[in-house]
Amino acid sequence: MVMIAPSILAADFTRLGEEIAQVEAAGADLLHVDVMDGHFVPNLTIGPPVIKAIKSVTQLPLDVHLMVEQPDALLPDFIDAGSDNLTVHVEACRHLHRTIQSIKDAGVRASVVLNPATSLHALDEILSEVHMVLLMSVNPGFGGQRFLPATLDKIRALREQIEQRRLPVSIEVDGGVKADNAAEICAAGADVLVAGTAIFGQPDYGAAIQALRAA
Ligand code: DX5
Ligand code: ZN
Repeated sequence: MVMIAPSILAADFTRLGEEIAQVEAAGADLLHVDVMDGHFVPNLTIGPPVIKAIKSVTQLPLDVHLMVEQPDALLPDFIDAGSDNLTVHVEACRHLHRTIQSIKDAGVRASVVLNPATSLHALDEILSEVHMVLLMSVNPGFGGQRFLPATLDKIRALREQIEQRRLPVSIEVDGGVKADNAAEICAAGADVLVAGTAIFGQPDYGAAIQALRAA
């Protein structure tokens, strides 16, 4: 069963609470929150105070994607704010194992994410420690970009490794996911689809989530 994680980056921030209530009512499984620091990626978004506010208005698990340089110092604030899953970029963590460990020690799910140009080999020594691997299917920083087709082979290869090693690790895909490519992304082996504009850019969020699920 594939899970759908609307990315609030594409929501109307002037009505964020209502937008979240609507995707929750429409059957979302997780809420994907994109944190950008203006250094790791060329864009700035939101931080712990906003996550804390979101946490108070939704039952949906908060899937927090940290696009920040050296996340370690910030982790306690994201944990206190109510993150249910924290995903860190392997490209941003000098001591990835320590970072993953400190997230898990706080009782929060710990996941890793790879940029499009980062090889799956970067996961070899950490795969057994994580809850989920997020594969970026666009270069991170902005919503509304086009899905990079090379991601499909990457998803398939990762799925194979996870099966071979019999690990309970989920595969999440983020960037350019739409109703018309969701089927091939899931067939390749994805468990969680992140979708920003494919949900918040549509007039009917229920229909948009349904369309992704049906695919
Ligand atoms: C991009 C973010 C994505 C983004 C996806 O850096 O990580 O989560 O919101 O947006 P869409 O679905 O519009 O490509
Ligand atoms: Zn994201």
